[in-house]
Amino acid sequence: MEKLEEEIKECQRCELWQTRTNPVAGEGSLSAKVMFIGEAPGYYEDLKGRPFVGKAGKILDELLGSVGLKRSEVYIANVLKCRPPGNRNPTTTEIKACTPYLDAQIEIIEPAVIATLGNFSLGYIFDKFCIKKDKISRIHGKIFKVGTIAGIKNVVALYHPAVATYNPGMKEVLVKDFKALANCF
Ligand code: URA
Repeated sequence: MEKLEEEIKECQRCELWQTRTNPVAGEGSLSAKVMFIGEAPGYYEDLKGRPFVGKAGKILDELLGSVGLKRSEVYIANVLKCRPPGNRNPTTTEIKACTPYLDAQIEIIEPAVIATLGNFSLGYIFDKFCIKKDKISRIHGKIFKVGTIAGIKNVVALYHPAVATYNPGMKEVLVKDFKALANCF
């Protein structure tokens, strides 16, 4: 993982290196059973070089706490390692250039559960594991079992925690989905 982090620091595979302050490789336990995958660093993540340290991060911390999980025992990464200017959506080119890093992180950690946070993560992970995609409103909190050479993995699609910042009612939905996640490993 250290080698991978060094590579990410030097990465110029897409244009985002030109506008980033810091790349955000990811953080947490290398023997984590659960890996959370968000979209891309935002303003604060770019400044600090750490994932989910802004508003959405505060909600993620609360959700983890609601099922007795600590940040230090899970692993948190993103589809993109560098912030898209103005937090615009990741482009297909950027996702293609960056996701070999995410693939390598999944291989290193071999989590039992992969939880996607938001649509870009859902799109990438569901395609990677050949799971039929559907609207997040239909599949959130459902556990999908996939067979890999590293064994059976559980994939669960979650709403992005940021939704709870502009729609407080969604917090309850997220709390319920985190319970489902915590019960599957
Ligand atoms: N949103 C994300 O998707 N990832 C982060 O690291 C922070 C906010």
